[in-house]
Amino acid sequence: MLPLIAERKDNPGEDLISKIVHAEIDGERLSDIEIKSFVSFLLVAGSETTDLQMANMWLRLLEHPEQLAAVRQDRSLIPAAFAETLRHTPAVLMIMRQASEDTDFHNKTVRAGETVTLLLAAANQLLDSMDDIAFADGITPKQEGNFVRAPRSFPVTFRPT
Ligand code: HEM
Repeated sequence: MLPLIAERKDNPGEDLISKIVHAEIDGERLSDIEIKSFVSFLLVAGSETTDLQMANMWLRLLEHPEQLAAVRQDRSLIPAAFAETLRHTPAVLMIMRQASEDTDFHNKTVRAGETVTLLLAAANQLLDSMDDIAFADGITPKQEGNFVRAPRSFPVTFRPT
């Protein structure tokens, strides 16, 4: 990556690395190591995920020829086909989060600083696994933000079914 970054410094093109190398905020540019880390991260985050997710989409479309026929006939369904495969058959099954404070969950305590691995695919059961989901303590979360907008905290209660 470093030789490529050096090359793009001297001969910038229309590519993303050239744009990152020459990007400037308040007269400051990213260091070569910062650029290397960022581009390496984007490569992994953007390429393997897309590659695997497209394979998943084709797997489902070929398994369900009537769905493939529907998308072929009405091209406006393409974004929905991608979105539905992301929901139904995600390429990334796990994400990790670190507890910021001791948290009791399902009769176990996750200690502050411990890492929890979350299974995203299980989220497809949401509707079935939480019959009685409700706002916690009658609190209705408020949406916040002007650019991206959502509740910053969303406490709920439910009994796992
Ligand atoms: C279908 C394709 C993709 C899938 C399934 C996917 C999946 C994910 C998932 C599950 C996360 C959350 C990780 C976490 O919070 O622990 C994530 C974050 C991220 N993805 Fe993707 N991704 C895809 C495409 C891309 C592409 C094309 C790019 C960029 C070129 C990208 C860049 C990122 C970045 C920068 C983050 C981190 C965001 C942050 O927390 O700051 N992803 N992606």
